[in-house]
Amino acid sequence: MADPLQGPEGFLAALNDAVGPDNCLSDPDLKASYELDWTRRFGGPALVVVRPADTAEVAKVLQACNRFHLGVVPQGGNTGLVGGSVPRNGEVVLSLTRLGRVISCDGDEGLLVAEAGTTLAAAQAAAAGVHAELGIDLAARDSATLGGMVATNAGGIHVIRHGPMRARLGGLEVVLADGTVASRLSGLVKDNVGYDLAQLIAGSEGTLGVVTKVVLHLVPAPLFRVTALIGLEGAGHCSPDPDERVRSVSQVALALAARLRRRVDGIEALELVFREGMALVREATGLPAPPGKDADAWLLVEACGGQDPTGMLADAVEDAPGVTEIAVGDHAAARARLWAYRERHTEAIATIGVPHKLDLTLPLKALAEFAGAVRPAISAALGGARDTRVVMFGHVGDGNLHVNIIGPEPEDYRADDAVFRMVTQRGGSISAEHGVGVAKRDFVTEARSPGDLEVMRRVKNALDPEGILNPGVLLPPVH
Ligand code: FAD
Ligand code: MLT
Ligand code: ZN
Repeated sequence: MADPLQGPEGFLAALNDAVGPDNCLSDPDLKASYELDWTRRFGGPALVVVRPADTAEVAKVLQACNRFHLGVVPQGGNTGLVGGSVPRNGEVVLSLTRLGRVISCDGDEGLLVAEAGTTLAAAQAAAAGVHAELGIDLAARDSATLGGMVATNAGGIHVIRHGPMRARLGGLEVVLADGTVASRLSGLVKDNVGYDLAQLIAGSEGTLGVVTKVVLHLVPAPLFRVTALIGLEGAGHCSPDPDERVRSVSQVALALAARLRRRVDGIEALELVFREGMALVREATGLPAPPGKDADAWLLVEACGGQDPTGMLADAVEDAPGVTEIAVGDHAAARARLWAYRERHTEAIATIGVPHKLDLTLPLKALAEFAGAVRPAISAALGGARDTRVVMFGHVGDGNLHVNIIGPEPEDYRADDAVFRMVTQRGGSISAEHGVGVAKRDFVTEARSPGDLEVMRRVKNALDPEGILNPGVLLPPVH
């Protein structure tokens, strides 16, 4: 007779034992929200969803999964955009949302320590309480968790000043696949004893360990912060070719961004939205017309510091080529009104279909040409499909363009592949800030050298020899 402890009864009993029956969800209705990703492009049924309360329970869950060779998908806020946070082949979902406490937040020391399931917004509120900021921000702040942001090495809107998540990271605690707990939580800026655990885990997308605590460096809250939304026209404004208008206005935006960085202190954000995205956002949200309503694109710039940057900004924009109109916000509500045109792109795009979200970095000198060439390349890859829409926007200060393709079926990769190829040919990256997940996994072999991939595989095998952590994510299968 089969040993019941080796079968489903055995692992369910072990998981129940680890987190308690109330936090071990098998009911399809209760599991549903953990099984589909934010884009609705990826997902599948979970074997079970477990919701541990602390590091010790995470360790017990992983020990049980390792013992029974069960795949585990760590999940934070499930706002990831590359399909890495949801099950694909009946894995166990390990939700971190109950690990939601800010443990300490010290403005003088400049450090925040929090559990991995803490939302970005909760951590930002804690930092504000000590007149500090995290130096990282993104529109999914109310749901995205610090653990998920470490795992994806999230970027966001302040990268040009403060870097991505790995640059904010002062340490972490992580549970390995066999339940081993490793921690480096001192937050010391200088600490050269051995391998850098936090940097190894940052960007590993849940494939090397489950982050349970995070230490972040804080920056002092500035006294002044000003946002401007600047309408732009390119030299090709009157061209009948929409791609030429995109190319030429991108060139104008890049030149203005460079000028602003030279002339204005404390530039924290440089974001670009185009005419089509702006129209879609207005349609989906009902926002009023932006400044320069007939512009080809808009550059959103934010500057902050100990002195009011408004004068510097105005001087820098005056006489700048291509500027049509500008709106300035110098207090929270006015700034939020301007940011809405940019931040609400993601939700607006989701209203017209299931997007293929391609998150790319281009060298700045290649960005305008790429922006003008990408739409025809997508159309060619799809054999001229008429029902395809392409909506672009991005963090133009660091060369990060978000190309959203709506139309192809979720599993149709023809357009994705064509765009990835264009990016690698131009010396860019196929994942700027969202990670690889499952969405880009099969293209990693073209984006990384064989030696580089071999290092990744050896690290993975050393830390997760049974291959239970987020199987199928990040690393392409070996053929
Ligand atoms: P999840 O989606 O739950 O997981 C993401 C990945 O991390 C998965 O592979 C998962 O397995 C792994 N993971 C999660 N938690 C842990 C953990 N504790 N330990 C180990 N692995 C873990 N991203 C940007 O970079 N910049 C942006 O500007 C940005 N804006 C966004 C705006 C919107 C409206 C939305 C919906 C998303 C946006 N994102 C952005 C994407 C997303 O918010 C980030 O990738 C974020 O870091 C994901 O955090 P999460 O907690 O939701 O992680
Ligand atoms: C953003 O910059 O808003 C995000 O990365 C989300 C997205 O790409 O839609
Ligand atoms: Zn982004």
